Amino acid sequence: MSNTQPAPEASERIALKARKVSFDWQETPLHWVPGDPFATHTINVLHLLLPAGERWFVHVYQQVLPYITDEELRADVIGFIGQEAMHSQAHDDVLPHLKKLGLDPTPYTAQVDWLFEKLLGDRTLPPGRPREWWLMERVAIIAAIEHYTAFLGNWVLNADELDRRGADATMLDLLRWHGAEEVEHRSVAFELFMHVDGGYRRRVRTWATAFSALVFLWQRGARFFMENDPSLKDGRASLPQFVRAGRQGVLPSTSAMLRSVPRYLSRGYHPSQEGSTAQAVAYLAASPAANGGH
Ligand SMILES: [Fe+2]
Ligand SMILES: [Fe+2]
Repeated sequence: MSNTQPAPEASERIALKARKVSFDWQETPLHWVPGDPFATHTINVLHLLLPAGERWFVHVYQQVLPYITDEELRADVIGFIGQEAMHSQAHDDVLPHLKKLGLDPTPYTAQVDWLFEKLLGDRTLPPGRPREWWLMERVAIIAAIEHYTAFLGNWVLNADELDRRGADATMLDLLRWHGAEEVEHRSVAFELFMHVDGGYRRRVRTWATAFSALVFLWQRGARFFMENDPSLKDGRASLPQFVRAGRQGVLPSTSAMLRSVPRYLSRGYHPSQEGSTAQAVAYLAASPAANGGH
C-alpha cells in the first residue's frame, strides 16, 4: 500500500493542534497594503478560495482516515483537519467586512463553492474501485495544493516589504498565523498521499490539475476584486502588474513560483525541505491572534 518515500530532512515532529484565533476587522481599511490595491486584492483572493477549499480538505480527509494504517500519521491528519477547519473559518470571517467596504464577494464565492462541492465533491460513483480512485485522486490534489500553501506561508512569514509598506497589522497576523501553520503541517498531505497511494504519474497529473486551477482561479479572483472595487475607476489586474509586485516584494516573485514546480515534481521531494519549522513555531508563539486575539 505505501510507497518508499524520501526521508524528511529534519527529524523534528511536532504534535499538530488547532490554535483558536480571533480577529477584529473593524479597523482594517479596504486597501490594507496602503496605496496598493493590486497587491491587496491579489492576496484577498485567499479569502475567496480558502473557506470552501479548506472545508473540502476536511471533507476528503475524513473519508481517507480508514485507509491510514500508521498511528503517527493518523494523529497528524487529525491535527491537520483541526487546523484547516480553523483556517477556513478565519478567512470566511473576513468576507462580511469586505462586503461592508463595498466589495460583495458572493458572485465569486458562489462559483468557488460549486467547484469544491459539486465538481470536486463525492459524485455518485459505485462503491469499490471507482469511488476509491476518486478519493485517491483528491488526496493527491490536496498534496499538490499544500505544496503551494506551504510556499505561500513561507513567503508571507518572510515578506518584510509588507511591514515596510505599513500593511494592516490584523491582516498580516491572519496571513502569518495561517502561513505559519501551513509551514508547520506542510509534510502531512504529502506523507498521507505517499502512504495511501504515492504513484508518481498521479503526482504529476494532479499537480498539473491543481496548478492550472490555482492560476485560473487566482487571476479571475484578482480581476473580480479590481473590477468591483468601489474606489477604483477602471480597476484591472494583469500579469505585468503581478510580475512587478513580485519584484517589489509585496507578492511572491514569479521566478520563485516557477522554481517551486520542479521541486514538487522531483522524485526526491519532501515538503520538509521547504520553509522552516522553527520560524513558524516562533511566529505562532508571538502571534497576537493565536495568543488571545486582537
Ligand atoms: Fe490552511
Ligand atoms: Fe494546509
